[in-house]
Amino acid sequence: MLYYDIKYPYLRYPFRDSDGSGWIMYSIPVDKLARIYHSYFGKNPLSFFDCGAAVGELIQQAENMGIKATGIDIKKYPVEKFPSMQQYAKYFQSGQIKIQSILETPPVKADLAYCNGTLTYMNESTLPMALSKFKNVKMLIAIHNTTEDIIAARKMGDELLHAEPRLIKPNQWWIDTFQKHGFKVDFNTTYNTFCAFPRHNRTR
Ligand SMILES: C[S@@+](CC[C@H](N)C(=O)[O-])C[C@H]1O[C@@H](n2cnc3c(N)ncnc32)[C@H](O)[C@@H]1O
Repeated sequence: MLYYDIKYPYLRYPFRDSDGSGWIMYSIPVDKLARIYHSYFGKNPLSFFDCGAAVGELIQQAENMGIKATGIDIKKYPVEKFPSMQQYAKYFQSGQIKIQSILETPPVKADLAYCNGTLTYMNESTLPMALSKFKNVKMLIAIHNTTEDIIAARKMGDELLHAEPRLIKPNQWWIDTFQKHGFKVDFNTTYNTFCAFPRHNRTR
């Protein structure tokens, strides 16, 4: 069993990368993200932004729930090429998902923004800029590997770190960093998510 099967039991879906290789994406489904949002705001989000939307699975889920959904990804996945992913092509054609880095995106406008792994693609100098893009959302939910995950996975023989450099820091470092950059933050131990709220946003 892989570490992610334990950490993210709620959503895994297959996708193909640019070279045609098949992989499994682990994430949290939008209904669960909306449930977390609901626990703070007493209502579902009306709009959702997926930062690092990949093929668009979460955009599709949000739309199916009647939530306005937009997203970006720095990389274009070959959704037109493989029948299993053609359902997602419309999100790229319509511009709902833009191929763009969060660092080049105007401040995000959405009730709920989501970063699955995306913040670990930053480094310590670009992370503040990335976080500043979420100052107008009501809530940012982030999930990603921390130092604790790397150690726990290694204990079960699963190596989470591969070729690309990633920003891997202890859980507490992330909490301190969200706070330092203007967010109130909770760590949700049920879903293993950082729940960050821009401090200036008084609607909570
Ligand atoms: C783990 S996937 C998340 C997929 C999807 N959001 C989900 O939860 O199922 C993370 C994505 O972040 C994207 N990414 C990395 N750096 C980024 C950046 N600077 N701006 C936008 N997206 C980025 C990667 O290309 C990758 O597709």
